[in-house]
Amino acid sequence: MLADQLGRGLDDLRISVTDRCNFRCTYCMPREQFGPDHAFLPRASLLTFEEITRVVRVAAGVGVTKIRLPGGEPLLRRDLHRLVAAVTAVDGITDVAMTTNGVLLPAALDDLVGAGLRRVTVSLDALDQATFAAMADVKVAVDAVTGAIDAALDAGLVVKVNTVVKRGVNEGEILALAEFGRERGISVRFIEFMDVGHTNGWDVTHVVPAEEVVATIAAAHPLSPVVRPGAGPGATAVADRYAYDDGAGEVGVIASVTRPFCRTCVRARLSAVGELFTCLFATRGHDLRAVLRSGADDAELDAELRRIWTGRADRYSELRTLGQAQPEDRVEMSYIGG
Ligand code: GTP
Ligand code: 5AD
Ligand code: SF4
Ligand code: SF4
Repeated sequence: MLADQLGRGLDDLRISVTDRCNFRCTYCMPREQFGPDHAFLPRASLLTFEEITRVVRVAAGVGVTKIRLPGGEPLLRRDLHRLVAAVTAVDGITDVAMTTNGVLLPAALDDLVGAGLRRVTVSLDALDQATFAAMADVKVAVDAVTGAIDAALDAGLVVKVNTVVKRGVNEGEILALAEFGRERGISVRFIEFMDVGHTNGWDVTHVVPAEEVVATIAAAHPLSPVVRPGAGPGATAVADRYAYDDGAGEVGVIASVTRPFCRTCVRARLSAVGELFTCLFATRGHDLRAVLRSGADDAELDAELRRIWTGRADRYSELRTLGQAQPEDRVEMSYIGG
């Protein structure tokens, strides 16, 4: 295993294919910062699907098995299924997933399933229309998102739901969302609002601790923790899982603020223009596009990946918990991908 400075391997590569999104979630792309004047990446600067696939091939050679295409909204990139097909075909890649807000999903499902996609994660922060609109800051009917989830299930995909919880905004939706998941047998994962980026006005008082989320759900539907495996898939997962005692499936929490999981962080992120970030809270990435476009061969790309990963010592969330100072120019999540 290729180990970083803290003995962590590289297993999960998250590839952003665009920094654009058709939503303006207040915790991710607040409209005041991402308005008509915001300079998004020019299309010509984006990595091509061929370049991305080459990075994936080399990354698989150093241990990566999981690929995720996170937000920005990946379905805004034309012909995304072509990338899914190419990445799925890479030797060593055993899991390819996508994170989407769902709106463009129904129209893309046939192509994505045909390309080999087996699972998808849909972001959904509320079932109540007004609360949904307050989180996503967009004129979209919540039915469009719940309908996309059902369409994905009908198409045979494994679906998970991601819910960011923000104190005073959508905490009242926790139980309804958990029940939405129970009815469909899908896992809803409640995420603590994080101080990622530097534009979302994060404050610790906005965080609803995962423990509180679990207590809220358990009061209506008793839960038991699922023991995390010591090794293998699952050992490095970000979500803590809980099973419903009545057999109606599972629910999860992602406690990135109250219980940071840097010790088991095996994730790297590739921005749409080819910078490799070794932490969600990094201020700068390593320019792989320059390497790709310099005529370097795969051996040189492999050496560059190894150099970057073996030098990695990031553990931002842990340091935040320890009260250490934070860099102020943190990169935005919509830019590097969640
Ligand atoms: P599965 O493989 O489907 O379980 O997905 P996952 O566990 O990788 O979770 P997912 O990609 O859906 O990530 C869920 C959320 O967890 C993200 O949107 C982030 O909010 C948070 N998250 C994921 N990775 C990290 C990380 O490395 N650090 C921190 N601090 N948060 C993360
Ligand atoms: N805190 C926690 N999660 C976030 N996401 C985006 N911004 C934040 C934040 N500030 C994640 C959510 C969403 C995905 C696209 O990115 O999980 O579902
Ligand atoms: Fe878009 Fe997802 Fe960010 Fe919301 S959280 S603005 S849907 S990338
Ligand atoms: Fe990994 Fe950085 Fe998140 Fe810690 S804060 S879990 S090192 S991405």
